[in-house]
This record gives sequence, C-alpha cells and structure tokens, in this order.
Amino acid sequence: MIKKAVIPAAGLGTRFLPATKAQPKEMLPIIDTPVIQYVVQECVDSGIEDILIISGKGKRSIEDHFDRSPELDRILSEKDEILYNQLRHIENMANIHFVRQKELNGLGDAIRHAQYHCANEAFAVLLGDTVIDSVIPATRRLIDVYEQYHQCVIGVEEVEPDEVSRYGIVGGSWLSGDIMQLDRLVEKPERGAAPSNFAIAGRYILTPSVFDAIEHTERGKNNEIQLTDALRLILERENIVAATIEGKRHDLGNKLDFLKTTVEFALKRDEFAEPLRAFLRSLILDK
Ligand code: UTP
Repeated sequence: MIKKAVIPAAGLGTRFLPATKAQPKEMLPIIDTPVIQYVVQECVDSGIEDILIISGKGKRSIEDHFDRSPELDRILSEKDEILYNQLRHIENMANIHFVRQKELNGLGDAIRHAQYHCANEAFAVLLGDTVIDSVIPATRRLIDVYEQYHQCVIGVEEVEPDEVSRYGIVGGSWLSGDIMQLDRLVEKPERGAAPSNFAIAGRYILTPSVFDAIEHTERGKNNEIQLTDALRLILERENIVAATIEGKRHDLGNKLDFLKTTVEFALKRDEFAEPLRAFLRSLILDK
C-alpha cells in the first residue's frame, strides 16, 4: 500500500521569469486554480492523503493556500455558499506537511528531504509543476503497477522522436504493452542515440533505497543532484519498471505549455467554452 506522496516544489522556476521572481510557479493559476492544487487533487484521487511538499524560500503562499483563511471563511459563509465550500474543500483536502529545502541542489536533493517522512515505505513522487490530465489518475496507475512488481516505478509518456533530447529517456524490454523492465536511463539523448521515445513524465513510485542512492549520487547536470542519476545507481542493483501513463502531461514550468493548458482547460469549462471558442475563432479569422 502506498500511503504517502512527496511533491517537490522548491525550484526557482527560472523558465517562467519574471512571473516567478516573487511567487512560486506552483501557485500560478490555470484559470482560477493553482497548479499545485491539481497535483494535490491527483494524490487524493489516487487514494493518498498524507502529502509532504518540499518547499523553500519564497514558497510560503503554498502553505497559506492549503491553510484556513478565517477572514475569507467569515465573509463567504454569509455571501457565497459555493465559493465558501470550495475554500473549505481546499483546506481539508489532505494532511499536508512541509519541509524546506534550504539550498536548491536539484530534484534528487529535494527528494532527500523526504527521508525522515518516508524512511520505511515506498512513496509516490509528483512534480509540483506538472499536471497530468487523465481519466484514471496517473499516480493511481503507478500505484497499481507497484503493487504488482514491488519495484520502483517510473511514469513515462511517448514523445515525438525529435523531442527525445529534451527529456530523460528509458530503455529496456517491454513486459507487456505498457510496462517496461528497464536496463537504461539516459538523460536528454541525441535523437539517434535514444533507447526509446518514452520520456520520464514527472510521476514516480520510489522505494526507500532511493535515499541511499541519492547519498551516493555525484553532482551532475547544472551541478545539481539529479534524481535520474540516483535512479541509474538503483538500476545497478535493483529492478525498476517504467509504466506508460494515459492522458496528457502539462509542464506548467514552460510558458508555451502553460498558455496551451490554460486554453485547453478553459474549453472544458461550461462557463467559458462557448465564448472562448468564439473569441479564438475570431482571432484566427482576423489573421
Ligand atoms: P524543475 O527543474 O522543472 O524546476 O523541477 P526548476 O528548477 O524550478 O525549473 P527552472 O528550470 O528553473 O524553470 C521540477 C520540480 O522539482 C522542484 C521544482 O519546484 C519543480 O516543481 N525542484 C527542483 C525542487 O523542489 N528542488 C530543486 O532543487 C529543483
């Protein structure tokens, strides 16, 4: 049983400057809901209610978002029952804990901060700037695979062959149509050198052996402790599987992805679909 999830959310978000100069990228809203709330919702929909958020300097608004706001509660309880219930839902979604990553030494280092909380059991990891829109929550799918194999599970998605050099790419042999036994993990390979076109998608189930692997991981790209490098160490002595995730991955740390996601999600909302579609059509016809 996977009971805990870790959401790394301490990064600087330099790809989204200047918006992220004084606010966390994980709090940027897709329409009216901060990115990290979708990620927490995925945990809850996957059956996990114990969540550790790796926080850091300038990330206090994440804590405030999941905390109670007595002033708003007081005003809305009299004025707007729907909004009031939405806010109460946010503060009661899960048991959310926070630990601060004091120096930004990379994703591997961020996960190391979960050691005290997750020392004895496998846990889920969901990147705090990545939303996966799917019918079956991506983390739920990885938990099901973990329960079958009892190995680390890496969520992967198929990408275009000319995109492999932007991602961590897995290689190995397919155990079934959607589960691969790994023999390789390659960070940002050249197009011809990629062992597959399945990319690491920001969702993982990790066993506690990851903490020892992180301890032994040298600084890699950007002089940071990379989680992929730690997983490569694990692969030398343990099996790891990759599982394809259904649905669509949105990297909200990337400005273009953020724009596209906002439009896509708005088109799915009853109150915006029709006027937004008309607006987009008029923009295109005007061109
Ligand atoms: P990214 O590499 O996308 O985050 O990490 P970043 O460093 O903020 O990105 P840019 O390149 O500067 O724009 C994915 C997730 O891991 C967290 C980030 O907050 C993000 O949610 N992270 C990354 C940490 O918690 N700590 C780190 O040291 C690095």
